[in-house]
Amino acid sequence: MSHFDLTLELNGKKVTRKIPLRSRLLDALRYDFGLTGTKEGCGEGECGACTVLLSGRPVNSCLVLARQAEGCKVETVESTSTETLRRLNATGTSQCGACTPGIVMTARWLCDNPQTLDLMSLREFMSGNLCRCTGYDGVLSGIECLLDQEEGES
Ligand code: FES
Ligand code: FES
Repeated sequence: MSHFDLTLELNGKKVTRKIPLRSRLLDALRYDFGLTGTKEGCGEGECGACTVLLSGRPVNSCLVLARQAEGCKVETVESTSTETLRRLNATGTSQCGACTPGIVMTARWLCDNPQTLDLMSLREFMSGNLCRCTGYDGVLSGIECLLDQEEGES
């Protein structure tokens, strides 16, 4: 199998690994860079469990070839501050946690790109992140709480 050197700015550090040519970004992150916080759910762009920020925007890393990320800034759930995780979890937002890394990364994008969203719009915005065991009310309350606190601090 052919390999190539993939260089990323990964969670604030420039890193390079030799990886299989056809790897998905999800696989490169988990198996080559050892960041297993990003989860695979459906593997086909439907559930959002694998969401990371690529050049600042949320993407499903199961749908991105690793080589498309060459030279880019990539942020994964491992770069999330403890305080952000604490605030998101304050409303009991997860059970099995498979969906949580993706939800956290989408919520982080919202914090970095503040906008006024009512509950309906927030629900729609988060509709790409599916949760099969907790339900959404706690998740949405956690995100609202995080956004309110970020707004209060800015
Ligand atoms: S694992 Fe990527 S969207 Fe489901
Ligand atoms: S907490 Fe289990 S899928 Fe969301």
